[in-house]
This record gives sequence, structure tokens and C-alpha cells, in this order.
Amino acid sequence: MTSTTSPDSQFRTAVVPAAGLGTRFLPATKTVPKELLPVVDTPGIELIAEEATEAGAGRLAIVTSERKVGVMAHFSEDQVLEDTLSDRGKDVLLHKVQRAPGLIEVVDVRQDEPLGLGHAVAQVESVLGDEEQAVAVLLPDDLVLPFGILGRMSQVRAERGGSVLCAFEVSPEEVSSYGVFEVTDTDDPAVKQVRGMVEKPAAEDAPSNLAAAGRYVLDRAIFDALRRIEPGAGGELQLTDAIDLLINEGHPVHVVVHDGTRHDLGNPGGYIKACVDFALDNPAYADELREWLGGRLDH
Ligand code: G1P
Repeated sequence: MTSTTSPDSQFRTAVVPAAGLGTRFLPATKTVPKELLPVVDTPGIELIAEEATEAGAGRLAIVTSERKVGVMAHFSEDQVLEDTLSDRGKDVLLHKVQRAPGLIEVVDVRQDEPLGLGHAVAQVESVLGDEEQAVAVLLPDDLVLPFGILGRMSQVRAERGGSVLCAFEVSPEEVSSYGVFEVTDTDDPAVKQVRGMVEKPAAEDAPSNLAAAGRYVLDRAIFDALRRIEPGAGGELQLTDAIDLLINEGHPVHVVVHDGTRHDLGNPGGYIKACVDFALDNPAYADELREWLGGRLDH
């Protein structure tokens, strides 16, 4: 179990909001939390835990609701299953089931009412140590590939202070699904200073085509800001609005512009792309899938 933070990481706790109903993925998510849907054979939340661990997090604070207890169970040891696999000599499978519980310490934080992403993140303050000056937030719908963006974001916080987010470019038709940044350039072409942030703007009101990609390194000041915001887009307490409040009060906020891949695991279309992407990189499935896809696309 890891409990230390790597020297360059700016955070010990990585927050994963996972209390949502997963409505875009019904009926599958009626009984299966969307965070447990497998990307090939590994639940999305395990990939998120792996990314957080690689970025130096020492523990994962998973925000769940009563309906989502299965998400935590994935990080518990299952002695009966492990013994059975071990007795049968299934070492590869044994290693796979032992992986999640061994990756990182996890803590269950409850969000009893679905009041929005800002409200979910706010619940984590109570489990932070006094010495923790920043937290990472990883939205489990977003797979940001290749891993490593959080490390880069930590570096930017170390250099420039404040809070650092991840941005990616979207088309004008897509801006209304995201938090969108108003930015100015810095001396680094991949890093922009954020002058404002707006949640799910209409295309004509969007300050840019740079959208928030679900990765945040947030100064602890965010918790104070979260106490001061009112319900925003969709009637929910928005993390975006707390970040915008901090910007207005002079808190430095930057984005690292991501130039890799991003998959949206929260809806079937994005999820299928992620599965195909991962399967094409997996020698166990790649050749057969490529051949089948080639034939399928010809018809
Ligand atoms: C959330 C955030 C939004 C961000 C998006 C990334 O929105 O509120 O700012 O751009 O995740 O996936 P949601 O997709 O939960 O509506």
C-alpha cells in the first residue's frame, strides 16, 4: 500500500467523484456503477487509480453515494477469489485481481445528495490532513492519454503557484458540454493563464474552444470558494464556478493544453472508442480485432 507522495507531486490526495447516477449509460448503470464498466477487462476506476498513483498520489478519496458501494469493493481484497485462483494455478488472473487493492490507499467519502461536482469535491475537505496544501481531482468519465498530464500540471503549480487544470480543444458544437476557459498566452506555448472559466456556455458565449478535461490540481483555497458559490449551470454547485471565483479574487490559475487523446467513458459512444483504442494496443486482441474491423468497415 502506497502512503507517501513522490517528491515533485503537489498533492497527496487524489479525489475521484463517483457518486453520479450515470444516466447517460442506462440501463447498464441501473445496477452496475459506470466507473466499474470495463475498458477491455479493467474497470475505468482502476485506470484512474493507476494514473493518480503514477502522478504521486498517496491515496484516493472516492466520493460515492449509497447506491455506489461496489466502486469501493473493487479496491478491497477478495480472499476467497484469490485463494481459488491460487489453488488452480491461475497466476495471471490472481495478479489481475490483486492489482487494484495493492495500488493505492482508498478512502470512501459520502455525498448524500446529488448537488453537483462542486458539492462532491467539497465533501473531501473533512478527510484532508492539515499539511495538505493542494488536491488533485480526476473525473472518472475522462480518460486522458497517455498518462502523465497530472505530473506536468504539478510542475506548473510548482513554478507558477495556484491551481492548474487540463485543457483540450473542442469544436464549437461541443463547447456547451464542458467548462470553457478564457485564456492568455504565457512564455510556454502549452501553458495558458486562465482569466475566467464558464460552465457549459452556449456556443456564441464561449470565450474559447479550450475545454476542461477532467483533471485538476487545486489549491486548498478551493474549499473556501466552494462554500461561497451558488447553484449554477443545471442548478448544480459547479466546481467551475468556484475556480472562476478564485480567479476573480486574484488566485493564479493555469491550464496545460493536452495534445494527446481523451476518451469520454461516461457515454456509450465514447466508451466504445476507448475499448477499441485499448484493445488495439493489447496483443491478446489486436490482430483479430483489426482484421474484423477492416472487414466490418467495408460493409
Ligand atoms: C464536468 C465539468 C466540466 C468538464 C467536464 C469534463 O462536466 O463540470 O467543466 O469540462 O466534466 O468531462 P460533466 O461532464 O460532469 O457534465
